[in-house]
Amino acid sequence: MSSRGGIEINKIAGAILLAGVIAMVSGLIAEALYTGTIAEEKPKEKRGYTIAVAEDAASAASAPKEEKPVDILPLLAKTDIKAGEAESRKCSACHTFTKGGGNGVGPNQWGLVGNTWAHKSDYSYSQAIASGHGKKKWDFQTLSDFLTAPMKYAPGTKMSFAGVKDPQARANLIAWLNQQSDHPLPLPKGK
Ligand code: HEC
Repeated sequence: MSSRGGIEINKIAGAILLAGVIAMVSGLIAEALYTGTIAEEKPKEKRGYTIAVAEDAASAASAPKEEKPVDILPLLAKTDIKAGEAESRKCSACHTFTKGGGNGVGPNQWGLVGNTWAHKSDYSYSQAIASGHGKKKWDFQTLSDFLTAPMKYAPGTKMSFAGVKDPQARANLIAWLNQQSDHPLPLPKGK
């Protein structure tokens, strides 16, 4: 190999090394900015991403400001299962609903309604949900309260989902969820 060829190779190797160093340093800076080790003067807000599914404008405008939990039972007497199934698409990024379906980001949901909190033994829950195992049930009302604002209802949950704010949309969804089971519960009857 001529000495000229050697110099070329050295240059190329040097360039590759330099590119690697630049990539590493900028990666460190990006991470530091992201986790806040450099930008410390900002107040400690929650870092990371929340998948906030926007309600359509109409239902957002008509939905009441929910201070108190909405009594979901009367709304369950008159539900639109098809609309509930459509609503469940907001969940399917993280959940499967089929019998024997796998866990994703969140646990599989077959047989959820009426079941205990942390109903899947092969899923690793946060303490917020796991602590309810054997003590709390996903009955209609609990499910509704949770789904209104999961992170408010169960602080510390790793379900990063803003919630389904519209009560009737929630009722429709719960009615559909109830059917994804070997033993659907009877829905409340209208008067
Ligand atoms: C961004 C991902 C994500 C989305 C979207 C999402 N979930 Fe979850 N869900 C999770 C995770 C993660 C958990 C586990 C929570 C924990 O352990 O704290 C969970 C847990 C749950 C639980 C508790 C299950 C149990 O076994 O106790 C219910 C109920 C639930 N989700 C319902 C829903 C419904 C209904 C929707 C749609 C309206 C939805 N989730 C949308 C990620 C998600």
